[in-house]
Amino acid sequence: MNTEDILKSLNTQAIGKNIVFKSETDSTNLDAKRNSDYLHGTLFIADTQSSGRGRLGRSWESKASDGIYMSILLKPDILPEKIPEITLIAGISVCRALSGFNAKIKWPNDIIIGSKKVCGILNEMSATEDKINYVVCGMGINVNTKEFAPEIKDIATSLFSETGITYKREEIICCILSEFEELYNEFIKNGLKNIIDEYKSLCKNLGREVKAIFKDKTVTGTAIDITDTGELIIKTNDETITVASGEVSVRGMLGYI
Ligand code: BTN
Repeated sequence: MNTEDILKSLNTQAIGKNIVFKSETDSTNLDAKRNSDYLHGTLFIADTQSSGRGRLGRSWESKASDGIYMSILLKPDILPEKIPEITLIAGISVCRALSGFNAKIKWPNDIIIGSKKVCGILNEMSATEDKINYVVCGMGINVNTKEFAPEIKDIATSLFSETGITYKREEIICCILSEFEELYNEFIKNGLKNIIDEYKSLCKNLGREVKAIFKDKTVTGTAIDITDTGELIIKTNDETITVASGEVSVRGMLGYI
């Protein structure tokens, strides 16, 4: 990973303008949290993570030099209740950067190519009732990964697996950061209103039969829409429910999507 290459090509105002790189760390999200006094937009990157963290308490496989493991530290001046919406922005920015691979979103923020996951996003935050201290937006992207662990090999892919080409991670990072900043600035100004349609058009679950797996129950139905604030609307046989991303894992009826 050459951070000089990133800084040279980056065309952003704030996002990624400061970079903290470690060849090895436990988790770049934890690095960002431990250094939450750093500037808005600081990017924490590592070549490998020993305790990569995923959504819903899962772990994230983070082999040396194969993938992108990065976290953006954000200090948005918005209401704490709006923070989950930043997840949508992160998903769209990765999709835009990987549009050449026809990347899409599996709600809320898994990025998929075909029916396999290429990127996961984990947003974490610290806030009081009315003030955000910081938000950390962590992204893990399978770039040059050649083999996956048996338990995920059927549902995971990488850019290399899709094309047989080895990619320069720095170029992909620059592209994501630039898309992210554009969307983030729009979001801070106008909320999701000019962004939500793009999210919906990228979201592969819409119109499909899904299983929403909660801690204590599983609900099946059709994913019919996304609310203006990014929740998934599912129509079951007897009701229509709205689910927020923090509480549920959504799968297709037959497999991952
Ligand atoms: C998921 O799909 O469950 C989210 C995975 C997020 C992984 C990334 S890798 C960089 C950052 N640091 C972490 O520990 N997790 C995120």
